[in-house]
Order: sequence, then C-alpha cells, then structure tokens
Amino acid sequence: MKKDGLLETRLEETRVFAPNDAFRSRARIKNLSEYRRMYEESLSNPESFWGKIAGELHWFKKWDTVLDETNAPFFQWFVNGKTNISYNCLDRHLDSATRNKAAIIWEGEPGERRVLTYWDLAREVRKFANSLKSLGVKKGDRVAIYLPMIPELAVSVLACARIGAIHSVIFAGFSAESIRDRVLDCSCSLVITADGGWRRGNVLPLKKIVDEAISDCDCVKNVVVVKRASGDPFPCRVKEGRDHWYHRLIEEASSDCDAEPMDSEETLFLLYTSGTTGKPKGIIHTTGGYMVYTYLTTKYVFDIRPEDVFWCTADIGWITGHSYIVYGPLANGATVLMYEGAPDTPDKGRFWELIEKYGVTLFYTAPTAIRAFMKWGDRWPEKYDLSSLRLLGTVGEPINPEAWMWYHTTIGKERCPIVDTWWQTETGGIMITPLPGCVPTKPGSATLPFFGIDAAVLDDEGKETTAGFLAIRKPWPGMLRGIYGDAERFKETYWSKWPGVYFPGDGARKDSDGYFWILGRVDDVVNVAGHRIGTAELESAFVEHPAVAESAVIGIPHDLKGQALVAFCSLREGAEGTEDLLAELNDLIAKKIGKFARPEKIIFSSELPKTRSGKIMRRLLRDIATGRALGNVTTLADASVMERLKAQYEE
Ligand code: WT7
Repeated sequence: MKKDGLLETRLEETRVFAPNDAFRSRARIKNLSEYRRMYEESLSNPESFWGKIAGELHWFKKWDTVLDETNAPFFQWFVNGKTNISYNCLDRHLDSATRNKAAIIWEGEPGERRVLTYWDLAREVRKFANSLKSLGVKKGDRVAIYLPMIPELAVSVLACARIGAIHSVIFAGFSAESIRDRVLDCSCSLVITADGGWRRGNVLPLKKIVDEAISDCDCVKNVVVVKRASGDPFPCRVKEGRDHWYHRLIEEASSDCDAEPMDSEETLFLLYTSGTTGKPKGIIHTTGGYMVYTYLTTKYVFDIRPEDVFWCTADIGWITGHSYIVYGPLANGATVLMYEGAPDTPDKGRFWELIEKYGVTLFYTAPTAIRAFMKWGDRWPEKYDLSSLRLLGTVGEPINPEAWMWYHTTIGKERCPIVDTWWQTETGGIMITPLPGCVPTKPGSATLPFFGIDAAVLDDEGKETTAGFLAIRKPWPGMLRGIYGDAERFKETYWSKWPGVYFPGDGARKDSDGYFWILGRVDDVVNVAGHRIGTAELESAFVEHPAVAESAVIGIPHDLKGQALVAFCSLREGAEGTEDLLAELNDLIAKKIGKFARPEKIIFSSELPKTRSGKIMRRLLRDIATGRALGNVTTLADASVMERLKAQYEE
C-alpha cells in the first residue's frame, strides 16, 4: 500500500460531523437506523428492493426476473424488461407541471445563457433522434460524440438513447489519435462534434481535430457539426456529403419520434477509460440497471427535490457527467446547471458567481478543484452570496481533510452536509457515500455503502481485514456488463482477484465504525486532477519516439492535482536529453493522448532499475521521485543504477 502525506493525515483523522438539523428534518432518510434497515433489506432481498425502485420508472414491458446470476460475471438485471431511458428522462415528465420546468440551465464560457424546459428538451431530442435516423443510424449502431459542454451534448446522448444507438462520448480534451482509437475500436458510423468550444477564453478547434482523427476511419459515414464558435480564428471546413450542420438537420426534422423499447440488457453506451495496459477499455453499460441505479443514487445521495438546482461540475465526457448531469437528475425530473468553461475565466470567482446567479442548491465537484479554490483564496467565494447551497459533494479521488474542512467551512458555512462519493466509470453510479440526512461524516472518508452495495476490505486471500483492497461482493444494477470486444479482459481485470468478487483496483481501510477510507489506486492507474490515466498508455507513447529506448511512468502525490505523473525515459545510444527532446516528448503525449496527460517531469537516464528478470521496479522510482529513503534494492540486477538515478533526479 502506498504511504504518503495524504494517507498519514487521513489515518489520524478523528473529527466527526453530524448531519445538520435543518437538512436532516426534511431529508428522505433521517436516521441511521432507517438507513441500516433499508441497507439490510437491499442486500438480503435484492429482488424486492430493486423491483420496487424500478417500478417507480416507466417500462414498456415489465421484467420477468430482477437479477439473473447464471452467467456470472455477466450478470443480467431486469431480465426481459423493455424500457427507454430517454423516455424516462423526458416523456415521463411531460404530463405534469414538470413539463414547464427548466431541465437544463446552461451558461457558455463567454456568458450566454440558455434554458431548456423539459418540453423544449424533449422536442429537441426527438428532432435530433429523427435526424440521426435520417442519416441511417439504427439501433445498435455506435455514435461517437466529441462536443464541448453545450446543451447539444445532452441532446445528443439522449437522442442516441431514444433510438437505441450506442453513444460513446469522448471528452473534448482528447487528441485526434485518441479519438481515432476509440472510433475504430467500436467502429462508429457517425461522429457528432462542434466547430469549436470555449475554454479559458480560447476556441478549441474540435471539428478540425475530428477531421484529422477520422481521415482514415472508413467506418465513419457521417459527421454532424454543431455551430458553436465558427468564424475567426477557426473557419470550419465542411466535407460535402459527409458533414452536416446540426441546426440544418434540426430545422428539417419532425418532432415526433417514439422512444425505442429497449431490452433492459441492451447496451446504452460505451465509455472508454484507462486501465493498466496501453489500450483504453470500452466500458459497457446497459439500459435498465444503469437507469434504475443512477435514478436511485441521485435521489438519495443528493436528496434531490423538485425545487433544487443541481450543479455537477464534471464534463459529460466522463462518467460523472453521464450519470449526474444527464441521466440521474433528468430521470428524477430535476433542474441541472450546465457550464461550458473553466472555473477561472474570466476570473477565479466564476463558479461562485454561477452559484449566486442561478441559486444553485446542490454542488458536486472534485477534490482537485477544491484544492485550486483554496489556493486562489477566500476572497473569491466571499464576494458572492452562497446561501442557496444546501449540500456539497465531492468525487474523483480521495479528499484530504484540509480540503474537506475548507469546503465545509468556507463554501458550506458549516451548514451543508458533504457527500464524499466513491465510485468509478465501471460502477455506473455512486457506491460508497454518506446519505446526507443521516450519516455523520468524517473528513476524508466516503463513509458507508449505498443500498445494494456489499462493500468490503479484503486481503490477497479474500479475507476481511482493516486495511487492504476494496471489494464488492454482490452484483448491483449499475455495474458494467463488460469491455467492448474483450470479454477475457473483463473477467481478468475485475473478477479474477477473488472468485465471484468485483475488484475495483483501489486500496481501502475500514475503521471501527465500519467507515470506508479509500486510499487510492493499487494498480498502474494514476488519477491526475480527476483524470484517470494509465501509466502504460504514456509509456507506449514515449517509446514511439526514436530517441527513447524504454520508459517507466509513475504517479506521485501532488498538492493540487492529487497525483502527478513523472516519466523516466532511458535514451538510445547517441540520443541526448536536450530541452528540444523534452519539448518533443511533451508534444508527443499531447498528440497521442491529450494535453492533460503531459507529465509533470520527464527524467532522462541511461538506464532504469530492473530486476534480474528484467522487470522495471517502479516502486524504487517512486522512492526517488518522492524523496524517500531508497527501498530494498537487493533484487536489482545492478544496484548502482539507483544511486545514479537519485543523484540525477535531485539535480
Ligand atoms: C477512480 C475511478 C467516479 C467518477 C469519477 C472518476 C477514484 C473516485 C473517489 C472518492 C477516493 C475516488 C478511485 C476510483 N475515486 N471517487 N470519493 N474517494 N477515490 O471515475 O475515472 O473511473 O476513476 O477514482 O481511485 O477507482 P474514474
């Protein structure tokens, strides 16, 4: 298990915060015993528990069985049920007062505002669903979406869901090569993008990047382009026959489009995420279980009410945005705020200004953002009225108690419960979290498992322990159903550590109150500012450079980003570690993966520490990079390498 500053401070944490009375008095679940009773029921009788919840949603045909475990780990939920998540997010609300309520309140980075009521959103989704059909998209086809955070992104995913097309949203910070890999892996027939998107006062030329990405992707027949930022400095090239303006398609489309009855286990979307090899995994989520799970977690974890304005600051390009900007809140008939741009544009008060302006009540962000806000200083939040806030949330990485306390005091005014929510792309929704009206919180702990989640801390043998690996011992509705095109990797990655138990890849501790403390990844996945990056992806990119012989990339603790990447590259004979080479390697990572994956440091060395069998010893590289005493070097083939590397690093 890794030991670093963050871990040490969290292990000493003893503060406990009871849910605030005002919040508790109107919460859905007001006391721990009620939570425990429901939790017990959800585990002992999942059929009736989940059946009841699913019954709150619309099904074209009811399921036969809630859970089928015969093909484990290929579990099936709500077997033979037919439903549609777009129907549940939209149509289900159109017969009530909800139809006129804001579904999405959007603000662009330059400051424009758009409000789409449920009625507006439903109409736009139906029209665009028809547009997709007119371009030949059918149920089961894969559609890649590479858009900035504009309403059309939500419309696009819902339109795909409506007709049963499988969406694969690609975060708009990924490079052309990353798009290409993802488009080819599942052979997308259509790509939805925009001419550009705003970020920190600049326009990202998204369409240009897509053009480059798909130049040799024969599978792509059509590209839909949303007009967002055309003109200077990025005139948008339109390829006759292949490219179509979104607004033209919408103009021509009918607003009648029935939702496709989807089998509960038909795929809703793919979302690529990093693993321990160089190749990202296309995580498969299906319809019924994901819908029920995001619906329920949104309802209880945020204790969401009709009058709330829910702002999840994630990008829809990540799972957090899928589940808690689009599907979960809309299935609950809630109002979400969606913001296109950066938190420091035009100044560092932008988020607090948005909270004041729209009366945000539920605010869900990441520890890395919280640490940046802390660093920017209290004068920014102090300029705004944050009294509308009633709940704060965090997700993406372990939160250090100092950041938690700042969030609690400066933003929550010691009034708002904080929900520290542990989950993953693979889990579909929140898994370990306080319920805000009843679970006392401890800074840095994600506290207790959500309904239906049999979480445990296990050792290598699968025995319960107080510090070891996080494990989930029972299936849950929101779980991934596989990795696109790679059933073996699915079984191997998640189900092979212990028989029948899901292994998320995190280390964890469980305290005497049964609270979970997530300690971070135990595999070669690094979490940089909430972005999940596989070190193997960087390593395989580095060695493509002719000067690099070998590379080892590690994560080290970082004050703001949580973790940062450090790359060790050994060079080929004759190559020199010049400033130019450094710049070339940084460009290479930006090109192969995306700018966000560029390492904090690149260290050139003539050799890397290896065992006699030739395995690179990352543990020792971590010791060097974190300035610790060197660990055991006796298994090294050549122990003197370490002294040389250490001297080099310190220089
Ligand atoms: C990894 C999953 C879930 C949406 C965002 C990230 C880490 C996530 C927490 C938390 C400690 C956390 C884990 C996990 N993580 N939330 N509250 N406390 N760690 O999704 O990109 O799939 O990354 O993020 O290490 O495995 P993701």
